[in-house]
Amino acid sequence: MDKIRIVGGRPLRGEARISGAKNAALPALFAALLTDAPCSVPNLPRLRDTRSALSALAEMGADVSEDASGAPVVCCANLRSRVAPYHLVKTMRASILALGPLTAKWGEARVALPGGCAIGARPVNEHLQGLEKLGADIRIDNGDIYARVKKKGGRLKGARILMEIPSVTGTENLMMAACLAEGETILENAAREPEVADLAEMLKKMGARIEGAGESVIRISGATELGGAKHWVIPDRIEAGTYLAATAACGGEIILRGAPTDMMDSILDKLRETGAEIEASEDEEKEAAERGGILRMRMKECPRAADTTTGPHPGFPTDMQAQLVALNCAAEGASAVTETIFENRFMHAQELARMGADIRVHGNTAYVRGAGGLGKLTGAPVMATDLRASASLAVAALAARGETRIDRVYHLDRGYERMDEKLRQLGADAERIN
Ligand code: EPZ
Repeated sequence: MDKIRIVGGRPLRGEARISGAKNAALPALFAALLTDAPCSVPNLPRLRDTRSALSALAEMGADVSEDASGAPVVCCANLRSRVAPYHLVKTMRASILALGPLTAKWGEARVALPGGCAIGARPVNEHLQGLEKLGADIRIDNGDIYARVKKKGGRLKGARILMEIPSVTGTENLMMAACLAEGETILENAAREPEVADLAEMLKKMGARIEGAGESVIRISGATELGGAKHWVIPDRIEAGTYLAATAACGGEIILRGAPTDMMDSILDKLRETGAEIEASEDEEKEAAERGGILRMRMKECPRAADTTTGPHPGFPTDMQAQLVALNCAAEGASAVTETIFENRFMHAQELARMGADIRVHGNTAYVRGAGGLGKLTGAPVMATDLRASASLAVAALAARGETRIDRVYHLDRGYERMDEKLRQLGADAERIN
């Protein structure tokens, strides 16, 4: 089983390019289920999760190929099955994003009910209740969700849906389903994450009529059919935030190209609070279709610990919580980080403690006394437990003196494209070993 070996304790210096966002790429791939025409995502990040999504679609009979430029193309004209089986959903819970499109396009769907995961129970009641409001019959049997449009051969019917929780994939599932429903759908208390807005941009290229995506109220006017699209997803704000947090922990000076400069204010503000100097600029050299700009970061001093409470966008993202906690473990001063989105997202605490971190978790808050700067934490063999927890171990390893080996690195591969390579580009002593 692969590991990542990092020898830390020195500042980072270098330049890396940010990949397309995992959490924009996954809904973009499942959106292909809404049309018989081919859809492509030229800047699809090559991750375990995107590979899982492509194989799930292929298993359902979609034609998955690459165009002349190497961009993945998905065509669902000859879809054989309306089923997303358990072995696919348990590998990647975002396969739940097949439910809305399949039900809207084919009038029926069977998708395994995603179980919980390391970070929480992760129910999908918002997805199911929303589909019922759109006119689908939903029943759970033998661990599968069976969805069927009530009117035989009929279409879903637009409705007003007030979400209790602004669920990100819940919003995406319902927005996709509403694109083929009859009439208008209003999604209230919708998730405002940039990835939701980016999915809406792709759906509009496919012919959907959507207003307000990225805000709390989204209006969708249903169409009878949608066309294909070629869509470059937004850059990954969490990947960018992770490398910025690593530099804040180690000191140094880095440049990130193709970065999402205009959708990560809460992350940039928080890192500035620790003492980082960060400037965002346009990338004059980029190709027309490419997305993102340039982030330049300098960290000349020992980071100061920073408190935060995670929240829905535009609040501080839960997907950056573990990375900030790791930074706080290396920093000067005490801090408290409260997690409000998931109920069990401090699995990194015990592993960080193995590296000498003074961290205690009470309820949904992690209290940290910083080690006081570069080289104060000590490298150790540690184990990744979930995607962002493993990223936080890399952040801590870079600031720690000595060697760290991160085991179960397949967690990292789910959401970070070639992390060891990009860390080397940023000047780290990092390699993948098996
Ligand atoms: C998306 O997950 C992301 N995944 C997560 O990223 C991210 O952490 C999360 O949004 C929050 O920003 C993708 O986009 C593929 P939610 P999602 O539905 O949609 C509760 C990563 O590291 N809830 O917004 O599953 C839920 O239990 C991953 O890249 C319900 O109660 O998250 C959680 O407490 C991890 N009922 C909260 O809402 C529902 O029907 C937010 O969940 C749905 C959610």
